[in-house]
Amino acid sequence: MKEEDFKAIEFVDGKLRVIDQRLLPGKLEYIDLVTAEDVAEAIRTMIVRGAPAIGGAAGYGVYLALIEAKGDTGIFGKLCTMLRTSRPTAVNLMWAVDRVMKKAIDSGYEKEAVKNEADLIVQEDREMNHRLSGIGISVIRKGDTILTHCNAGALATCGWGTALGVIKEAHRNGLDIHVYADETRPLLQGARLTAWELTRDGIPATLIPDSAAASLIRDGKIDLIILGADRITTNGDVANKLGTFMLSVVAKEYGVPFYSAAPTSTIDFSMKEGKDIPIEVRNPEEVKRFGGILMAPEEIEVYNPAFDVTPHQNITGIITEKGIIYPPFDKNIERLRKGEEL
Ligand code: MRU
Repeated sequence: MKEEDFKAIEFVDGKLRVIDQRLLPGKLEYIDLVTAEDVAEAIRTMIVRGAPAIGGAAGYGVYLALIEAKGDTGIFGKLCTMLRTSRPTAVNLMWAVDRVMKKAIDSGYEKEAVKNEADLIVQEDREMNHRLSGIGISVIRKGDTILTHCNAGALATCGWGTALGVIKEAHRNGLDIHVYADETRPLLQGARLTAWELTRDGIPATLIPDSAAASLIRDGKIDLIILGADRITTNGDVANKLGTFMLSVVAKEYGVPFYSAAPTSTIDFSMKEGKDIPIEVRNPEEVKRFGGILMAPEEIEVYNPAFDVTPHQNITGIITEKGIIYPPFDKNIERLRKGEEL
């Protein structure tokens, strides 16, 4: 199994070491997080980002919270709530915090058991990503051009990647693909992170402004779209980086297959429809400034949602480590929940 030569998150010597993703591609720099507050702040400020990476980091955050709480379960609970609410949209965050907290309670607040649970989340995420990538390449034909949005690669996960994992697997299998990467305004995860990963892996790729995607799709230049997910509801609606919905509308109009790739930890089995997914609205400065330079009148009002929801009607399939979920999504997600074959 070929792995990337960097890790978005890694627990070393009692500290959570993360890549400061705000500095890429200029600098590959690591930061050590030593408290639960450090972890929550790194998630809030997007030093660590991408649904599964956020989940992996938060798992270790719970372990650090347990150490800090020194046996005070009230403090432990408060620190866990702080972690759980550090970003609202990616369900992997709440899922990971709840899972490691449960281990803490079930084990009688046994530190080693809690640390092992956090390790397990990371290990399982890497495995799920490899598995879903192997499954996902079945939707790619030799010579395909693939459009992706945001960053759903090794940086966004505990290793390998989801949508970008499928793309890397296709490249590794000699499928002769070409990738179009949306730059992904305003924080440029596509330009800064996906393009960085693609270049490092030697995958033929073209970076495009987000608004170029529609005409490329119309002109038959895109064979399929594969991107990630931050939360999938039980009817198959998908929350992902802002701009995903717009791509899905154009893809549907021109008959281009549209896939979301995500581990099953991204499915929120408690939520039926995408309209109920909390969408994070971020700081206006992210839109008004570019590289710190003001690009709009200081006083202009800004709306800066970080995500949007793509209705299941616009989705061809959801690639998971357990197989590809096709319509009817509600029935098939229920089968998956019950542990039945897809
Ligand atoms: O705001 P971000 O950078 O955390 O948003 C990331 C995305 O939207 C990804 O597509 C998603 O988390 C999937 S990552 C495997």
